Amino acid sequence: MSVPTPHSELSHVWPIGSEIDGAGRLRIGGCDAIELAREFGTPAYIVAEDDLRARAQAFVAAFSSRNADCELLFASKAFPCTAVYRVLAEEGIGCDVASGGELVSALRGGFAPERLVLHGNAKSEAELALALREHVGTIVVDGADELERLERQLDGGKAPQRVFLRVTPNVRGETHDGISTGQADSKFGVELADAPALLDRMRGNDRLDLRGVHMHIGSQLRDLTPFRRAVEAVAGLGAFPEIDLGGGLGVAYTSDMDVPSIDDYAAAKVGAVHEHLGSDVRIIDEPGRALVANSCVTLYTVETIKRNVSTWVAVDGGMSDNMRPMLYGARYEAHVADRFGGGTPCHVVGKHCESSDVIVRDAELADPRVGDVVVTPVTGAYGFSMANNYNGIPRPPVVFCRDGDARVVVRRETHDDLFARDV
Ligand SMILES: Cc1ncc(COP(=O)(O)O)c(C=O)c1O
Repeated sequence: MSVPTPHSELSHVWPIGSEIDGAGRLRIGGCDAIELAREFGTPAYIVAEDDLRARAQAFVAAFSSRNADCELLFASKAFPCTAVYRVLAEEGIGCDVASGGELVSALRGGFAPERLVLHGNAKSEAELALALREHVGTIVVDGADELERLERQLDGGKAPQRVFLRVTPNVRGETHDGISTGQADSKFGVELADAPALLDRMRGNDRLDLRGVHMHIGSQLRDLTPFRRAVEAVAGLGAFPEIDLGGGLGVAYTSDMDVPSIDDYAAAKVGAVHEHLGSDVRIIDEPGRALVANSCVTLYTVETIKRNVSTWVAVDGGMSDNMRPMLYGARYEAHVADRFGGGTPCHVVGKHCESSDVIVRDAELADPRVGDVVVTPVTGAYGFSMANNYNGIPRPPVVFCRDGDARVVVRRETHDDLFARDV
């Protein structure tokens, strides 16, 4: 199944089903963005539920049409929100968690424990104990120290624990250093040369059920070649019943960006497995960003406009609801939600006490005014998950929209919430 194209007046970056109505106002999931801002306040994360479902279905179809035995896992660090977990669990995919907190969130979101895969480069004794207690399906062992820690906790009376070994294939994709993980010198996984000894040790432990190797070479990759090279690199480690290929498909953040389709991504990965490992291998893939990023937009309200050397359009959020521009120099686009089009070169900035708090440098808004609702698309991945309370700003709500109905799935934080942990 392919992902349908949004309304013709809007580019491919917007959630499926988004449109600009006859009055020039943005609608997401059938809901008027200005009304949403009025009803739920700003900043707010607005999610088109149908978009989430369509992308999950597209990933499942793209992989399962090419390999008889596959499993898709939601890399939940991208959007660890209970309602998002719930939708994706309903769509029949499994879930990758990278900490004890994500593990309990995924269970709360309705994932069966056997559909969970635990990752993490520094899993604690307590996180491993929690995973074993909750009967988490699979643990991806990240290194020798962790293997020892896990072995100490294994209970001889239980069925063997399914495990993979994470390896770094020494393949670097083209992406920001902060999200590149496939190079040999990485904090994640073990080098190819060190893998055989650990795999032997895992094979020799009858309380472990070694299923294969795991790799994840990085995120926001727009060229598919490194995925193929990575499969070729790990193929030398031998034959296993399963392979976990991680995630990594890039998404279009701005209208001028092109990215491979979900179908092309699956074709490249599955094709490489068939070429180097044969067609009897169970394939696991872990999309995060490409599953959720385009499903969500953030609504802000313009608080002030200053004209000095540049025009600075300051909104009521910023680095507390979207860290990616500051962490990775990530580019977004911004629009006035009821006045699309450019005309005024400006910088869209947040309200935080940092000059780095720039959401969109060199934006073009249509005659921005104080009180306007400004929207940034493609905020579904790592917006909510990296949100913080810098400057005591309460975190935004998450609002799901579908067929013209809007419902709050995470309420806005209150000032009282800021003191919830005081003792
Ligand atoms: C182990 C693992 N799997 C999957 C993913 C998902 O990657 P992406 O969001 O690029 O699809 C990540 C992201 O960092 C990861 O660390």
